[in-house]
Parts: sequence; C-alpha cells; structure tokens
Amino acid sequence: MGQRTQLILLLLLFIPYFVMESTASDDYNGLLSVKDELMNTPPNWVRPDPCGSKWDGIVCNNSRVTSLQLQSMNLSGRLSREIESLSELQILDLSYNKYLTGPLPPSIGSLKKLVTLNLIGCGFSGSIPDTIGNLQQLTTLSLTNNSFSGPIPASIGILSNLYWLDLAVNQLNGPIPVSPGLDNLLHAKHFHLESNKFSGEIPPQLFSSNMILLHLILNGNNLSGSIPETIGSVQTLEVIRFDRNSLSGTLPSNLSNLVYLNELYLSNNKFTGSIPNLTGLSLTYVDMSNNSFTVSDMPPWFSTLQSLATLVMENTQLQGPVPSSIFSLPNLQTVTLRNNNLSGTLDIGTSYSSKLQLVDLQNNSIVHEVYSAGGYNKNLILVHNPICNPPDATKSYCAVSQSNTPPYSTPSNHSCPPAQCTSDQISSPNCQCAYAYSGTLVFRAPNFLDLGISSYYLELQSTLMQRFKDCSLPVDSVSLRNPIKDSSTMNLNLSLDVFPSGQDHFNRTEILNIGSLFSSHTFTPPTGFGSYYFLANPYGYYAGISTESKKSLSIGVIIGAVAGFTILLLLLVLAGVYVYALRQKRRAESASGQLNPFAHWDPNNGSGGIPQLKGARSFSFEELKKYTNKFSEANSIGSGGYGKVYRGILPAGQLIAIKRAHTESMQGGVEFKTEIELLSRVHHKNLVSLVGFCFDQGEQMLVYEYVPNGTLMDGLSGKSGIRLDWIRRLKVALGAARGLAYLHELANPPIIHRDIKSTNILLDERLNAKVADFGLSKLMGDAESGHVTTQVKGTMGYLDPEYYTTQQLTEKSDVYGFGVVLLELITARMPIERGKYIVMVVQTAMDRTKVLYNLHEILDPAIGLQTSLKGLEKFVDLAMRCVEESGANRPTMGMVVKEIENIMELAGLNPNAESATTSESYDINKENSHHPYSNEGFEYSGVYPTSKIEPQ
Ligand SMILES: *[C@@H]1O[C@H](CO)[C@@H](O)[C@H](O)[C@H]1NC(C)=O
Repeated sequence: MGQRTQLILLLLLFIPYFVMESTASDDYNGLLSVKDELMNTPPNWVRPDPCGSKWDGIVCNNSRVTSLQLQSMNLSGRLSREIESLSELQILDLSYNKYLTGPLPPSIGSLKKLVTLNLIGCGFSGSIPDTIGNLQQLTTLSLTNNSFSGPIPASIGILSNLYWLDLAVNQLNGPIPVSPGLDNLLHAKHFHLESNKFSGEIPPQLFSSNMILLHLILNGNNLSGSIPETIGSVQTLEVIRFDRNSLSGTLPSNLSNLVYLNELYLSNNKFTGSIPNLTGLSLTYVDMSNNSFTVSDMPPWFSTLQSLATLVMENTQLQGPVPSSIFSLPNLQTVTLRNNNLSGTLDIGTSYSSKLQLVDLQNNSIVHEVYSAGGYNKNLILVHNPICNPPDATKSYCAVSQSNTPPYSTPSNHSCPPAQCTSDQISSPNCQCAYAYSGTLVFRAPNFLDLGISSYYLELQSTLMQRFKDCSLPVDSVSLRNPIKDSSTMNLNLSLDVFPSGQDHFNRTEILNIGSLFSSHTFTPPTGFGSYYFLANPYGYYAGISTESKKSLSIGVIIGAVAGFTILLLLLVLAGVYVYALRQKRRAESASGQLNPFAHWDPNNGSGGIPQLKGARSFSFEELKKYTNKFSEANSIGSGGYGKVYRGILPAGQLIAIKRAHTESMQGGVEFKTEIELLSRVHHKNLVSLVGFCFDQGEQMLVYEYVPNGTLMDGLSGKSGIRLDWIRRLKVALGAARGLAYLHELANPPIIHRDIKSTNILLDERLNAKVADFGLSKLMGDAESGHVTTQVKGTMGYLDPEYYTTQQLTEKSDVYGFGVVLLELITARMPIERGKYIVMVVQTAMDRTKVLYNLHEILDPAIGLQTSLKGLEKFVDLAMRCVEESGANRPTMGMVVKEIENIMELAGLNPNAESATTSESYDINKENSHHPYSNEGFEYSGVYPTSKIEPQ
C-alpha cells in the first residue's frame, strides 16, 4: 500500500500547480489534520470537498470554511495546531465534547477573523495562549467548564470587541489582569469568571464609568482585599457575585449607586463593618450570609426593596426584632435569617406577601410568635429558638421537615402513562419512547431560592419550545427535572431532556443546531432564571452511525477519488495524501514486529471472518500454556462461574491475567468474536484493557493486563496490605466512576457493565481504580436483540431492585451497584453482612443534622477518623442518590463523576492530578485487628467470573 501511495505522489509531482486555489486547499488540509487528531468526526467527513459536498458542522462562503461547529459529537482527541489553516474561520464551536482534551494550540491566534470561540464543557487543559489577543474580531469567548490553568493572559485586554467573556469553572489562577487586562474591555457585558482559583485583590482599575458591564460573576475564587469603591461607577451592573472568596473590609457605600442592580451575592467572605444602606435599588436577590459584620439590628431599608424576592442573611450578626413590614414586600418568596441573634416576638403580620413560601429563622432567640389573623401557613422554621425549647411536637415550626420528593418534574401531557422504554430511550412528556438530547442547565443567578414553584419551569419549557419552533427544529417536547440548588456554588442545576419529533432520535445536523442554541446563548431563558450555561450529556444515537469510528481518511477513498475525479481535485487531495502517507509510515514502523493476530482464527468454524481488532492480539493455546506454566495451580488467581483466572507472563516480561472459560460457559464463535471486537475497542485508563484472546483448540480465553494491587474489596479488607485513607478512597471512587462513565457515555455502542461490585474494581500500582469484567456485559442499543436480555444476572447486594422487578436493564442499574460500592468505600462493610443490607444500615444510622451525618459508628476506622473527612457528607448524599429505588432518580455516571470531582475539590484535591503516590504497605497488626472484611467465608455469588487477582 505504501508503494502505491508513493507512486501516486510521484505522478502528482509532474502535474503543474498553477490551477490550484491555494487557500481553499489550505482549508481542506487543515480540516484533514484536525480530523486526523479526533475520533468520532461526522461520517460524511470523507466526502471529497468540505464545502461543495457539505460536511456536517462546516459552513462555507465562496469555497472557504467560515464556521466549524461540532457540538455534542462525542469527539475525543486533541485540537490540531493545523486549525490555523482555516484562515477565514469566523465561528469555532466545539462545545460539549468532554473527551476533547489537551491544550488549546497557540496557533489559534492566527484565525484573525474569528468572532466566536466556544469550547464549553470540553476537557481542554493547559493555559490560555497569549495569542488569544490576536483575535481582534472576537466578540464571544466561552471556555466554560474545562480544565484550563494558569493566569488570564493580559493580552485579552486587546480584544476590544469582546462582549461575552466566560472562563468559569476552570483551574485558572493568578490575579485579575488590568491595564492591560479586563479594564480595557469596554464593550463587554459579561464577565463570568466564577469557580476558578483567582487570587489577589480586585484591582480598583478594573472598574470605570466607561464600562457597560451587566454581569460581574467572580464567586468561588480566592480573591482577597476589599471591594474597590470604583465599582460604584459601573452603573449598568445588574448581577454581582462576589460570594465564596476571602474578601474583607467594609462594603463600599456607593454600591447604592448601582440602581439597576438585581442580584447581590456577597456571602461567605470576611466582610466587616456595617451593612450599607441600599435603599432605592431594584434588588430581587440579596445574600450576605456568613460574614463578620458589626452587630446590628435588621437594616430597616430591607423593607423598602419593592422587588425583593429572596433575602438570605444567615450568620450576619443581626439582632433585635424582625420588622414585620418586611413580610409585606409584594414579591417576597424566601426569607432566610438562620444563625443570628434575632429576638423578641415574630410577627409576620396580616398583609404578608401571597408569594411568601419560606421563613427560616433557625437558631435565633425568638421567644414568641404572633399568629396573624390571615394565618401564615407556609413553611416557617423556628428550630433552636427559645420558643421551641423544650421542643414542642405540637408546633409544626419546631420541626424541620425534610422532603425527599424532587421539587419539580415535567408531568406527562394529558396524564398519559409513561411509556415503558427499552435500552436508553426515555419516555417523553407525550409518553413516546425516544433518544432524548439531555444535559444540565446551570443557572448562575436565579432570583428565586424556592425550587418548588412549577410556574417558573412551565414558563421555561414553553420558552424553550417556542425557540425550537422559531428555529424549525424537529422537537416534540422538552422535559425538565430535578432542580437542585448546588450548595457549593448556589447555582440552580436543572436537568433538561429534549425529545425529537417524527422519529426516535436526532440526526447530527439537528443536534448541532440545538447544541448551538445553547452554546452560543441564542436561547434566552425567562427573566428570573438569569444567566446560564448548558452542559450536554454525550449523544450517541445518530442514525446510521458507524460502530467503528474511523480515525483517518481511508486510503481506499483517496485512491477512488484519484481515479474518478478531475485533476483539480487531485491537487486538492495531494497534501492530504502526503500527510496520510507520512503518518501511515510512522504507524507501520511502530507496529512492526507484531504477530499476525488472526493466525489462529478459524473462519470455517462458523464464526464469520476474522475479528476487527484495535490493539488486541491473538494467542495460540500453546503460547498461553507456556506463559502460565501449563495453567498451573500456582498461577491460578481466581475463579468464577465463567471459569478460572490465571496469571501469566509474556516473553517481553509483561504480566497478564488470563480468563479461561469452562466448556459449559463457552459462547458461540460469533458471540465470542463480537465480544472481543467490542473489548478491543474500549480503551480508558480506568478500565482493565484487553491484551488479546485465544480461540484455538476448542478454548476461549481472554487475556487482560495484570493489575497488581488486587481488588478493591481486598484493599478495603486489609488483605492486600494497602492503606486506603479518605483521599485515596475518593480517588478510587473517581477513577471507577470515570471508567464506568466512559462505558455508558462514550463507548460505541454504549456498554452496561451489569456486575459492578468491589471485586470488579482493581487497583494498579498507583492505586488507580480499573474497572474489570465489563467484557461480559451485554451491548446496549443493539437493535437486533431488542431490549437487553431479561435474565436477571448480577451479584446479590449490588442488584438494582428496579432491574430485578422489571427485568429491564439500563445504565442506572450500574449506578445502583456503584452506589453500594461507595457505601463499601466508607464503611468497609460487605454489602450484605450478617443478614444486614448496607444500604439500610447507612440509611438507619444517618442523621443529616449531625456532624458526619452521625455515621462515626459505622465508618471504617482505617479511613483515618483522626484526619479531616472533608466532603464525606456529600459523598454519602451521592451514594444515597445512586441507590434510589427508582432509576430515574439516580444520577447518571457522568453526573457522579462531576460530583466526586466537586467533593475532591472541597477536600482541597485536584481531581485531575495523576496520583503520584505508589502503594504503601501499612502495619497490618495495627489496623487489621477485627476488620469486617477479614471474614474469609464470603462467597462470590456473581454469575460472572470475578477477576480476583492477588499479588503473591
Ligand atoms: C437610607 O437611604 C435613604 C435614601 O438615600 C434614606 O432616605 C434613609 O434615611 C437611609 N436610611 C438609613 C437607615 O440611613
């Protein structure tokens, strides 16, 4: 093949160049390079001409590429530096491809015409290149939700046309750059910089009266010093979020100049002095909680804020009576004044707002309550006030009622019964099964705190539907679920499902259009929801999607084109062929020396041709016999229903684990082939990878990489002599969750594991978790086999009760099993121990009002009870959500990953750091004394083999 390519190249060299339109071919070659570094580019990116034959996601003008948009395409890989070739590009939007990783190449600065750069919800890392300052036309820069680090380049100040700057939810650090820097951005309306690691003071130069800024969002950083007085000169400001920093000093009194200010978030800082008089502002949301203000009475001006909907003043040193006038503000919904010293009599009055839903005065000094004649009967909380001491069960306000029902979920239309859907289709509000486009809407500054007001969601739904209709998008309906106030960001997270109309899935073009409505913010939610960003879940249900993602342009296509098209076309592909040929050569060199993987495949065995493999090789029976010392007992390291597992060693020294099937558990040749083809395609650092297989002499064996530190169960039991402290457990949880999320969300077709348990999570030499045994999972989305087999398999203690009763398997069954593993991680108990079920044990013992949820008794002492268990409560919350009775209420694995990352950040850890620590033994005598797992009588009840691999 290499020779033929060279021949073609040689021929092409003799064809004169003068007809070539060089710039269009630059575009083409640039796209080929971009494509070559990505997986899952649209299948029609093999056509000869991106503009003429219309590649998905490409828009051209005069044969030049002006827009490249690939939202939610499941791209993985890196963005090639050759992107610079697209010199006419105006829009680059690769949002919602979370496996698109690596740096943003500095060559991006060559795209002088770029107006929009959106990379929301991807996996980019490294620093934002200085060259960004060359993008003079840029109006929108959204790098939200990546892993960018380092400082904001000061060159950003050169972007004088910038209107929208969103760098939120990254790892950016350093000070906020000014002069040059953000103060130069006089056309900017949005600074969204929250949830990073910015530090230093907020520079006074940042603000000036020439600015037209609407949103200033800086929460969740490490900013210190005081708020500069100059902020009062930016009169256009509508939303200020300074909460969750280390700001101090007195609040500037000229905040009162900001007459358009709607939302003011100042909580969780170290502000001192008195609360300034903000009479006359159009504030709807005020939160100043957890600061160190001077002790004062409730500021009387609160009662003058006619638009006020939400007032949150927890732990703000307030004392004296609560003025009843505040409750009659016409728009008031929520008043939260916990942890102050408010005293005297509580009088909500007779003319309180009809919208008032919650008055929370926990932990104050209220001694008496005056019942209003109208009888305020919504939520009133006076726990830990003298009035509730001693606790009086007859007074409802002396109890905190905890409702577990989600505050909103779009109901079905005309009360139709939800359809029973197979695989990962879900039932729409019109009770039709379909593959919905789903994700999370994150609202950064909603003006309401009460999540139970359904009229808001109904309005959002109809606004969304209207927008889809205006854009002629084939959307049948939308569903909103599970509004959650994220307590670490105070953002409102809302799950969104968009259902296709006319068919059961969206095609690529439709997803690109819907995705771009969100990534480019051309969808505007109703006021009240405020600024948002959207994070789409991967969408893998495109019609006609090829199961094999082709990484590079096939040589056959090129030769076909060469033979059939004009000379001009030939010239266009010239460089592409050349690049390809070079790469092929490199690949061929690196792959040399491999055995023919198909040497022992018997095509006459009814197994339908040799398997299409990526990286896995074929072993003969004789080879494996040799590597395992004739399958000696000494090398037997585990067994299960499927067969036995042996350790072996390859001639090159690599350790392997070989799973050898019993005769009874052998599959047909075709099934075995399907399985190894699937396994060979799955590559993730948190999944045990397939090295090869053996299909020879009537044997079926799978050869895996050997994972040296045994199973998680052994790790927790102390059996493998590993110390697993809280931090390591978090890392193990994150690794396993990422592996599983990959199977669910990125493998193509998606894979349900079906047997998640602590014996199927292995630990490598750095204690990274690797999920094992997904090999025996059933593929999802396999149209031929209808929905996934109904025979319930799995392991007692990890079995999803919903799967058990409905016999319908979904990814949520894995989420359930994973929830049980999370509980094992903190308790080191087996899922069922002395007849007690771990889920019930935790549920019974936990008390959310207490430190560590009152779980000290059942926490594993080896977790390090003396050390800080930061985030443990959230970890327990997550585990409990995973084991919700109904699959619909469980999070997806993608959400689980995000949440564990959040918890790690809370605990001061970088979830993306490679763990540098190698495993370290610990004094077994000290900590292994009576460990619940040291019960040797534990039986593996899995139908599938356990890959219990122990170091010797
Ligand atoms: C707050 O300011 C308003 C208007 O500027 C003024 O009328 C009012 O008296 C002030 N209130 C206090 C308590 O200083």
